[in-house]
Amino acid sequence: MRSLLIRIFASFWSIILITIVVAVAIGYSYAERTRISMQNFEVGDAVLEASAALRENGREGLTGWLRSLPDATASLLYIVDEQGQDLLGRRLPTVIKMSVRRFGDRGPRPMRLRQDRPNLRPARPFTQLIGPDDRVYTIFVMPLRSVGKRWLDERGTAGLVMLALLVSAAVSYFLARTISRPIGRLRESANAIADGRLDTRVAEGVGKRRDEIGQLAMDFDRMADELQRAWLKQSELTRNVSHELRSPLARLRVALELVRRKTGDLPELDKIDAETMRLDELIGRILEFSRLDADPHEAKTPIDLDDLVRSVVDDVCYEYGDLGGNSSIEIHADAACSVNGYPNALRSCVENVLRNAMRHSRGDAKVQVHLGTEARQAVIAVEDQGGGVAEDELERIFEPFYRSKTTRADQSRRSGGLGLAIASRATALHGGSIRAVNKGNGLRVEIRLP
Ligand SMILES: Nc1ncnc2c1ncn2[C@@H]1O[C@H](COP(=O)(O)OP(=O)(O)OP(=O)(O)O)[C@@H](O)[C@H]1O
Ligand SMILES: [Mg+2]
Repeated sequence: MRSLLIRIFASFWSIILITIVVAVAIGYSYAERTRISMQNFEVGDAVLEASAALRENGREGLTGWLRSLPDATASLLYIVDEQGQDLLGRRLPTVIKMSVRRFGDRGPRPMRLRQDRPNLRPARPFTQLIGPDDRVYTIFVMPLRSVGKRWLDERGTAGLVMLALLVSAAVSYFLARTISRPIGRLRESANAIADGRLDTRVAEGVGKRRDEIGQLAMDFDRMADELQRAWLKQSELTRNVSHELRSPLARLRVALELVRRKTGDLPELDKIDAETMRLDELIGRILEFSRLDADPHEAKTPIDLDDLVRSVVDDVCYEYGDLGGNSSIEIHADAACSVNGYPNALRSCVENVLRNAMRHSRGDAKVQVHLGTEARQAVIAVEDQGGGVAEDELERIFEPFYRSKTTRADQSRRSGGLGLAIASRATALHGGSIRAVNKGNGLRVEIRLP
């Protein structure tokens, strides 16, 4: 996201920078050219030429002479008639307009002393020419400094350039941010959905925008709605099917019992009984798995992980007939830690991992359970000495109904392949993670909870 922000910002700003530099360069070179051509221009000579032209051909002569001057020179010279109009019809610069308003009145007055102020001789600051028709033309020369180097020397120019740079930087930055920020939000939401948080939406922050990004956010949310709906429908279906299967199964077992009473114990009946029980167990697991979707059907409470782990260990030991002081599970608790979570889901998670460890353990090797905290997360690690799984299966064993190829036939018959899928979904529900690594001669499964 950072890089997109920087790229958009840099491209906007560099375009503006180039524009400013080019504009300054053009302005400067124009001013320089004018200044150089003016160095060869003598105002006195020009006035003499103008007066000759006027004398010979009147107003037309004067206008023609003005027009014949080189552009750079003509642009500094204005000849204004009695109506205050330039002979070439150009707009007068403000400085000249002001002078015209003050002095450009009824033609030249004879240089005479004023009656009341005998020591004062009022002079006109501009050269004036009188035409054959007695009309007066005033010649204004733009001060050289006002067009020359002054253009750049002026404090105003530097200030303006600085201001343009600052404003364009700010505008570019905000423009870049308005594009890159919602994309960052979209990315976060996509990741959250990929992590199983299907109720994530982006529209709250971004959707109010009317532009394409706002529309993208709305489309994204629509996609998330559909995904969530499909997901809920699927898990509801699984739940209903599993539920419906249970009743005929219960009736089957009752019928089996009745047959057994009539015929006495037969090995075939035992087999049917065992398979029915397995089926019942499997349906129970599927129900448990499908219940652990976005809605866990229980309230979050603070859970003491030490208590939870010890209680699960007791249960699993009991299940494996592992009573008394000589338990095959060792608990190492580094620190007391508690999390805010769903007790049943968490219990089922630890139980499944621990059962696997016990089931795969060989000989009298002990299963180790470590409880501690790492990077502000609670970590429950279960290690066994059961040979582990192939490296390429370390992730796949968390998929529903996946059973490792190396699982022994007798184990495979008893397993449903749902234990680690349940554990994985339970940790995701808590915003945590679960992973498996081969360690020593066995498997280490780590559950991390925030
Ligand atoms: N501690 C372990 N050591 C070696 N292999 C394991 C271990 N735990 C799991 N596995 C492998 O991962 C597979 C998936 O485990 P999972 O718990 O999901 O299913 P299961 O144990 O086969 O069945 P269920 O738990 O539903 O009774 C298992 O079939 C097994 O092959
Ligand atoms: Mg299992």
